[in-house]
Amino acid sequence: MTVQDVTKIVLRDMTEDDIPSVADLCFEQQWPHREEDLEKLLAIGGGMVAEADGKICGTIMAWRFGQSFAMFGVIIVAVAQQGKGLGRQMAEAMLARFEGVTVLVNATDEGIPLYSKLGFVPLGKVLQHQGTAPVQPLVELRSGERVRPMGAADAGALETLYSSATGMDRKALLDALLADGSAVVLCREHVQTGFAVIRRFGRGWLIGPVIAPDAIGAKALIAHWLGTQTGSFCRVDVPEATGLGPWLEEVGLPEAGRVTRMVYGPAPVPGEDVAIYGLAAQALG
Ligand SMILES: CC(C)(COP(=O)(O)OP(=O)(O)OC[C@H]1O[C@@H](n2cnc3c(N)ncnc32)[C@H](O)[C@@H]1OP(=O)(O)O)[C@@H](O)C(=O)NCCC(=O)NCCS
Repeated sequence: MTVQDVTKIVLRDMTEDDIPSVADLCFEQQWPHREEDLEKLLAIGGGMVAEADGKICGTIMAWRFGQSFAMFGVIIVAVAQQGKGLGRQMAEAMLARFEGVTVLVNATDEGIPLYSKLGFVPLGKVLQHQGTAPVQPLVELRSGERVRPMGAADAGALETLYSSATGMDRKALLDALLADGSAVVLCREHVQTGFAVIRRFGRGWLIGPVIAPDAIGAKALIAHWLGTQTGSFCRVDVPEATGLGPWLEEVGLPEAGRVTRMVYGPAPVPGEDVAIYGLAAQALG
């Protein structure tokens, strides 16, 4: 890439007016994000766009979780501009805004070389499972356990579970997700031990976050939402280490792709009693 090519490009903050152009870049990548999804992502975080001759040719977004952590996502360079250093330029510019903060990203195979060169290291895989929701798969809960709708009094407990499962402050994110979605709670002897949110996203419904003490609880939560959406398109993004992949295949939600979770800085340390079984979105972790 020549220096001349780089200097034609202007980086600036993303605004709501840019969303249709960001959606066009997603479309070029065959990513499912609707304008509504991108508006929501921008409202709860921030972003930058790269412009060449007044036309948007690159995007990057970021979300902060408390003082110590952030996620990057929606990192796209228009196909015609790829391989000329723009991806690195945008990622470095965004990293400069998060000095001293650990940054995570769920990287596509195309993104891995860029993040590796910047010093990100892999932490594991996240599997994207999706399809037409089957009739609710049966998952037997243990005695004393049940799945019930979320009530207003649950909010504090769910924020604590979400933050513990991810090792990051997820209060603001959960509030934002609940504004657009619905949640069910997993209880053991009336104590909240997990929950799952469902909301509209992309081609249909996205089930996530799914937070649970173990795989049985997570399956019960996911099965609940699949049962309410039988016949509709549903998606759930699960860390490979949860072992939920084969079960999702069995119940009719095949794997559609996978990304690599990568970290720049000290990785977050989740609590021991609860884990994340489904992501709020690939971009949000
Ligand atoms: C990933 C993406 C943003 C990278 O943007 P880009 O402008 O093409 O990347 P750059 O030209 O800045 O290259 C970044 C670095 O990765 C290196 N790189 C790129 N592809 C590589 C490959 N296949 N093998 C090894 N290194 C590679 C480049 O050499 C460069 O390293 P350098 O800066 O040390 O020279 C772009 O390819 C893209 O939009 N892909 C589709 C959407 C996507 O998958 N986004 C990532 C989401 S996490």
